[in-house]
Amino acid sequence: MADPSILVLGATGSTGRRVAARLTAAGRTVRRASRRGDVRFDWADRDTWADALDGVDRVYLMAPHELPVEPDFVHEAVARGVRRFVLLSTRGVVEMRDERLLAAERLVREAGVGWTALRPDWFDQNFDEGFLRPAVLAGELVLPLGGKRQAFVDADDIAAVAVAALTEDGHEGEVYEVTGPEALSFPRALAELAEVTGRHVEFRGTPDDYRAVMPAELAEEQIRAWDALGDGEPTDVVARVTGREPTSFRDYAARAWAAGAWREPASASGPFGAVSCAERPSR
Ligand SMILES: NC(=O)c1ccc[n+]([C@@H]2O[C@H](COP(=O)([O-])OP(=O)(O)OC[C@H]3O[C@@H](n4cnc5c(N)ncnc54)[C@H](OP(=O)(O)O)[C@@H]3O)[C@@H](O)[C@H]2O)c1
Repeated sequence: MADPSILVLGATGSTGRRVAARLTAAGRTVRRASRRGDVRFDWADRDTWADALDGVDRVYLMAPHELPVEPDFVHEAVARGVRRFVLLSTRGVVEMRDERLLAAERLVREAGVGWTALRPDWFDQNFDEGFLRPAVLAGELVLPLGGKRQAFVDADDIAAVAVAALTEDGHEGEVYEVTGPEALSFPRALAELAEVTGRHVEFRGTPDDYRAVMPAELAEEQIRAWDALGDGEPTDVVARVTGREPTSFRDYAARAWAAGAWREPASASGPFGAVSCAERPSR
C-alpha cells in the first residue's frame, strides 16, 4: 500500500503553499488542496471533501479569513483515517474573542485524534501577499493599533513549525504561539520597510483615524476588537521547534524586495487597499 499522504488545505495561500513545499522537500507525499489547488477542495462544496481526504492520515487544517472550519469536515476526516491535525489558528484568539477560530480549536481538541494548534502573530507576508499590500502601494495604512507592538512572523517560519508538528512526534496537544524574533509597532515596521524599499507608508493609528475611514456601523465594533489586542511579545517557539532563529521583519522585507515586491507605482486606495473594511475585524 502507498504511504499515507498529508493533506494541505489552503495550498495556494501564504502558509499552505510553504507547508506543502517544505513537506515535498522532505520527501513526503502531499495533497495540495484548495479551489485552485492540484486537488480541488472547496469548503462550500462538500462533494469535494472525500476526494481530498483519499489516502490521507494527517491534515494541515486552515480555513481562509472569515470561513469556519466545518465540523462535518473534521468528523469525515477522522472517519476516513486522519490521525493528526495541525490547525492554523491565531495569536490573540482568546483576547479578541475570535469565535471562528476558538470553535476550530475546540473541534480539533475534541476530535479524538492527535492535534497541534498554531497561533501565529501577524504574518510578515500581509505586507506583500496579503491584505496590507494595497495599503503599502497606496502609501497609507489606517489601523487603530497606535504604538502597540506586534511580533510579526514570517509565513515560512510558521510553515516550518507546521511541518515539524505534522511529521515529528512530541508536538501533540501543544498550542504554539508562533512569532518573529522581536515585537515592533506598526510605525516601526513601516519604517523598516521604508529603509529597505524607499517607499514611505504613512501610518494613522488612532480610533478617530479609523472612524474617519470606516462605515459608522462597523467602526466601533472593530475598534473594540482591535483594542483587545495587546503588545505581542516574541516567544521562543520557532527556535524551540525548528532549531533555528526566526526571520526578522527586516530580513523578510529585504527578501521580498529582492524578489520584486512593491515595485508598482503608488495607487489610490482605502485603509486596507482593495480589501473592504467590513471583511477585516481581525488580522
Ligand atoms: N494574516 C495574518 O496576519 C494572520 C495571523 C494569524 C492567523 N491568520 C489566519 O490565517 C488564515 C489565512 O491563512 P493564509 O494566510 O495561509 O491563507 P491566504 O493566503 O489568505 O489564502 C487563503 C487560502 O484559502 C483558499 N481558499 C479560499 N477560499 C476557499 C474555499 N471556499 N474553500 C477552500 N479553500 C479556499 C485559497 O485558495 P483558492 O483560492 O485556490 O481556493 C488560499 O489557498 C485565516 O484563517 C486567518 O485568520 C492570519
